[in-house]
Amino acid sequence: MEREKIYKETKLVKGEDKAGISECAKHLAEGEVVAFPTETVYGLGANAFDPEAVGKIFKAKGRPSDNPLICHIGDRSQIGDIVSEITPLAQKLIDAFMPGPITVIMKKSDKIPSEVTAGLDTVGVRMPSDPVANEFLKACKVPVAAPSANLSGSPSPTNARAVMEDMDGYVYAVIDGGDSVFGLESTVVDATGEKPVILRPGAVTKADIEDCANGSAAFAGTLEAGQTPKAPGMKYRHYAPFANVEIMDMPKGAVLVGDENDEDGKGGLGEVKKPVFEEMSEDDRQALVDIASPFIHREREILKANPFARIGVFAGVEVKALYEKLGDKILLMHTEFYEYGNALDVRAAAHSLFEGLRHLDCQEVDTILAQGLTGGGMATAYMNRLGKAAGKKGEVVPGMPKPERPSRSELPLEAFKDTYTAQILFVDDDNTCLSQACEAVMTDLLEKNSPFDMLVSRSIGCEVYAESAGITASDGAIPDPGIVKAVSEAVGRNIAHCRSKRTDPALYDASDLIITVRDEHAFEIVRAFPQIKDKVFSLSSFAASCGLVFKDAGGRLVSISIPDPRGENEATFMHTAKALKAWLEMLFPYIIKTMGIERS
Ligand code: TXA
Ligand code: MG
Repeated sequence: MEREKIYKETKLVKGEDKAGISECAKHLAEGEVVAFPTETVYGLGANAFDPEAVGKIFKAKGRPSDNPLICHIGDRSQIGDIVSEITPLAQKLIDAFMPGPITVIMKKSDKIPSEVTAGLDTVGVRMPSDPVANEFLKACKVPVAAPSANLSGSPSPTNARAVMEDMDGYVYAVIDGGDSVFGLESTVVDATGEKPVILRPGAVTKADIEDCANGSAAFAGTLEAGQTPKAPGMKYRHYAPFANVEIMDMPKGAVLVGDENDEDGKGGLGEVKKPVFEEMSEDDRQALVDIASPFIHREREILKANPFARIGVFAGVEVKALYEKLGDKILLMHTEFYEYGNALDVRAAAHSLFEGLRHLDCQEVDTILAQGLTGGGMATAYMNRLGKAAGKKGEVVPGMPKPERPSRSELPLEAFKDTYTAQILFVDDDNTCLSQACEAVMTDLLEKNSPFDMLVSRSIGCEVYAESAGITASDGAIPDPGIVKAVSEAVGRNIAHCRSKRTDPALYDASDLIITVRDEHAFEIVRAFPQIKDKVFSLSSFAASCGLVFKDAGGRLVSISIPDPRGENEATFMHTAKALKAWLEMLFPYIIKTMGIERS
């Protein structure tokens, strides 16, 4: 399916902006596509009565049109327009769970075009409970056909930013209603017969449905190859991040929190208890070790096989706490954490699963180790989605190009958060050659990988700068023409206008990380300013501190060394610039991590 940017700019409308929402509703009724928040995930909506408008959804998603869409409503009175029959079972489900995270499949009415239902004679109806969704859907006055607002094949979006990543330029507007409460798509229940059949597990659980229906409910079987799907969406590759996903088993006998017996239905999403080892009983400490050790064991195994591997960990705060308690710097350096709350809080894990996968993908990890949570209720829905992410089973959508790694770089940062700054400083002797080249290469990498967030809080953006200076430099000297030419060829940046400057304490102070080209310069700085020793490295000592091991063809350990090219020929300069580029690219993820930032 051909994807084509049709809007110069997609509007971002705040959930509190009543006028903005009614304007979006008006445009939707007239044929535009609008993304809106719900309590499950964000949806990509179009007028369900208008086949042409519905076609635009498939274009924006890059999804084949043989996948039926759910009709969303703001008022139960709209159901009569959408369906031709409401079975007694359907009526019970509607009464019990709407508005809420459920989709009820019924026989469709003639008013709903086949574009919506992919030719099926049934239609899914859903009335979200999210207040912004409700306001918007009421204002639309027509039923709104909507799939999840992600690009086909990528994790469903649970916030407006994730929608923007996938949809900027492809839809008229995105309404920002904050984080989706549940984070997993609705429970889809076929209510055309007497017995409920659950086509997709979600926050309304099997037990909830059985209680309501006064009888047993069945899960639709998983599909074998070649079988026609009952819910056609089931056959496509879903929720797949770019990294490999491995599921870490939860310890036997551990008990989930926020599951079926949870009263408010939101689980422990509010309060997160960080473990304090010193205050814990022996049993609690053992329980925590049982949860975290599968991650640590597996990561050590992976690093043994590949010392360059970068691992994402999607887990509870307990798991990171144990990593930190162990204090293995190398393990920590190679790990990106996404903590969803307490490890056994299934509501919290579900709430953050899709955002966590998207986030860790942006950190360019090779493998994501994710917490498995077994149990009924929400855990069934959680493991259903996580299993799909891990299995990457099913077909890739026909005709779709292989998706590229997500980049959040083109998004307007200001729309989402506050911004801080961070700086990395490269140091050599006279700042006319190698340190200038490092600055140029790093600036290039920073531009390509921006924007960044502070590790302490994902809602704080960070602008990052590279600088260079020389320990014995005189101020204002021009760079060596040899390096100017080589840098221009290697990274396409012109450094001819740069001028040398001398290092000084204020510059050290303003820098969050200082890297010298040669080992002796790092020693020299630390000798003069011992109080900043934790942020001073040479290229090779920095690599070693990250646990990166380099070997030459003969298997001997080598350290990073960049010979001074000055006085040599053009080819030597070129070789030097390329080598610096290669080393810095390799070190880049570790550099930003050490600076306390990460890719947004
Ligand atoms: O929570 C949700 O349901 C979200 C929000 C936006 O409401 N929507 C959503 O839509 O997840 P989508 O298109 O990503 O998934 C809809 C699922 C698909 O698996 C589809 O095959 C199934 O519902 N479905 C829709 N209509 C159906 C029908 N008539 N018969 C069987 N399955 C149907
Ligand atoms: Mg979907």
